[in-house]
Amino acid sequence: MTPDLLEAGTQVRAEHAQRQAQAGSSGGREAAFGRRLTVGEPDFAHGVALYVEDITVSFDGFKALNALTLTINVGELRCIIGPNGAGKTTMMDCITGKTRPDSGRVHFGSTIDLLRLSEPEIAQIGVGRKFQKPTVYEQLTVFQNLELALSADRRVRAALFARLTGAQRDRIDEVLALIHLQADVQRSAGLLSHGQKQWLEIGMLLMQDPKLLLLDEPVAGMTDEETERTAELFLTLEGQHSLVVVEHDMKFVDQLTQGRKTVTVLHEGGVLAEGLLADVQANDKVVEVYLGR
Ligand SMILES: Nc1ncnc2c1ncn2[C@@H]1O[C@H](COP(=O)(O)OP(=O)(O)O)[C@@H](O)[C@H]1O
Ligand SMILES: [Mg+2]
Repeated sequence: MTPDLLEAGTQVRAEHAQRQAQAGSSGGREAAFGRRLTVGEPDFAHGVALYVEDITVSFDGFKALNALTLTINVGELRCIIGPNGAGKTTMMDCITGKTRPDSGRVHFGSTIDLLRLSEPEIAQIGVGRKFQKPTVYEQLTVFQNLELALSADRRVRAALFARLTGAQRDRIDEVLALIHLQADVQRSAGLLSHGQKQWLEIGMLLMQDPKLLLLDEPVAGMTDEETERTAELFLTLEGQHSLVVVEHDMKFVDQLTQGRKTVTVLHEGGVLAEGLLADVQANDKVVEVYLGR
């Protein structure tokens, strides 16, 4: 541990403590862990977490997204289904700043124009993304992975050696309980099952306390039991976070929507249908392009 790294870590912690103090009585989850905002705070007073309006993305003339419009409410858990190539991942790429749409608008809350922000800024402002493959630090323990995720700057390895505040320890414990990894806290992440690695990565996202979580095929490769536990986890997160879940597993979507939540069906870069799972499954257009295959 070199002194400059140590100092950088201390500074990150100090800034962090200051932000938490500033968050004051609004406290709790709003006292964002390890987040360094470089842009204004988003405004969710109107109840909208994400507003995607009329976005089009072309790859060599082929429209991966074609005038896609979608609204996700604060605290909503929205499942998005659709055949391969429908544009689901491209949609997430546009929200997270990985891909710039040719036209359209993407708003986070009522004030933040995500198309003006860089990928790291979008992550910092409260949009967490889970890619299909788990990307945890295999050599580090479960605890260290979560500890590292507290720091906005993952290069600051000093984060591992800096003293955690009581609030940070509490948050790690809370997240460990959510992701069912309390018993594995001192194990190397590399030794976890595929499903546990996925949970750990979700836990790492949760350490940053994102307002919006984007999850691309989160249960692919999981056992039935792991899939069920993942559904329970997402249902617990619903309300406190907005979640957009792209998934092929209809049983999982059914578990998440509980017969009462809206499901969006994407096809050829646009919304083909929206409604309860049973209704979209009975929709002739949907059957034709997707479920009937
Ligand atoms: N970087 C890219 N270059 C060219 N075509 C792409 C690129 N990314 C995605 N596509 C195409 O855009 C369409 C939508 O892809 P994608 O968003 O990955 O679909 P989904 O996630 O719904 O399966 C597909 O036809 C895919 O081949
Ligand atoms: Mg995809």
